[in-house]
Amino acid sequence: MQGIIDIHCHILPGIDDGAETVKEAQEMLKMQYKDGVRKLILTPHYRPGMFEPSVSQIYRSYYQLQAAAEDVGIQLYLGREYHISSKFEEQVRLRNLPTMADSSYVLAEFSSRHSYGFIRSSVEKMLDAGYRPVIAHIERYPCMYEKQRAEELCRMGAYVQINAGSLLGEDDRPSRQYCRRLMEDDLIHFIASDAHGRKKRKPNLGKCSEFVLKKMGKEYARKVLCHNPFMLIKNLEIK
Ligand SMILES: [Fe+2]
Repeated sequence: MQGIIDIHCHILPGIDDGAETVKEAQEMLKMQYKDGVRKLILTPHYRPGMFEPSVSQIYRSYYQLQAAAEDVGIQLYLGREYHISSKFEEQVRLRNLPTMADSSYVLAEFSSRHSYGFIRSSVEKMLDAGYRPVIAHIERYPCMYEKQRAEELCRMGAYVQINAGSLLGEDDRPSRQYCRRLMEDDLIHFIASDAHGRKKRKPNLGKCSEFVLKKMGKEYARKVLCHNPFMLIKNLEIK
């Protein structure tokens, strides 16, 4: 499938546990292009105590990668994968959360230990502050394995992202089953690669788009892989 937009990947070199060098990042971009990806949002981790690169480090790496991306034929946007930590309360109160592609969408990552109550109240706080929270790889949180909880978060105004690898069964079986159930119930807004390298956790949206096309048809595949990501980049509301 052509024209895919990957909204979650760790290709920005030397910033987190993703691509280590510009060369590796360039190879990952080539893999993405082969998979049909034409735009992507770079989402390095923001996680206090673990990944706290400065804004200038991020921009330096981003400008370094831009020329390579132009050669490959992929348009880059900048975002963050924002881990909900002890700094969250203050940052959301100050309306100071890192967003994706200069939009109001925040790619929010939780810990697998967080309770559903905590996730729901964090979502509420982001919505109250005017953000559009996207729950990063929802299948990673055991407390979400009750379908009505995902439904409730969507009703509140949150968006759901799953990883292509989970849907394809590259992780564990429960996460594959959960992703397939969410997909069949139309509770997913985005499927992204969350790619971290060219060998391990590599770009996989080509294989995944084939799978989604076969299972759900063209209209659905375009919605979760192209249309919704496009609306995000344009900062438009996804209905
Ligand atoms: Fe990630």
